[in-house]
Amino acid sequence: MRVAMWQAWLAGIAVSAVALASLAAAQHSANSQSASSPAGDIERGKYLVNDVAMCGECHTPRNANGELKYDAWLQGATTWVRPVAPIQPWADTAPPLAGMPSFTDTQFATVLEQGIGPEGETLRPPMHIYHMHHDDAKAIIAYLKSLPAGNR
Ligand code: HEC
Repeated sequence: MRVAMWQAWLAGIAVSAVALASLAAAQHSANSQSASSPAGDIERGKYLVNDVAMCGECHTPRNANGELKYDAWLQGATTWVRPVAPIQPWADTAPPLAGMPSFTDTQFATVLEQGIGPEGETLRPPMHIYHMHHDDAKAIIAYLKSLPAGNR
């Protein structure tokens, strides 16, 4: 009788270990799936744009006090920073990104992954030359497309 209870107890432990292992495996495959999903991960793109690369600092217009206009998020802006010593060429405007009105996915990915403009041109400062991974560029594109295009 005692032996049987021990056996049942051990079997129980074995079953939970197997269950935990398969749960971990399922979790892992769910994670790797979302990282390489063909459409790009909107939430990740939002995080990269708004919390890591800070695209809004330049691509969102500002009010007279220099504060970002959140109701025109990423709708293109006049460049608000100037170099202390002249740098040529310097871009006076940053184009709209919300809704991705002016670029194809491939053009946009080339900007973010290689730092080359849609027509093969050099990007002018203060735009950064990014060398993003393709999945990050795809996520950013998915997020920008999810935003309403502005009326500017
Ligand atoms: C420090 C300011 C700044 C930041 C931050 C910034 N940009 Fe820009 N961006 C610019 C300016 C200025 C231009 C215009 C460059 C030009 O005309 O050569 C530009 C141009 C672009 C272009 C168009 C390139 C072309 O040649 O037409 C794209 C696309 C772009 N930015 C996307 C982004 C994205 C996405 C982010 C965030 C991941 C970002 N930018 C962050 C300032 C910035």
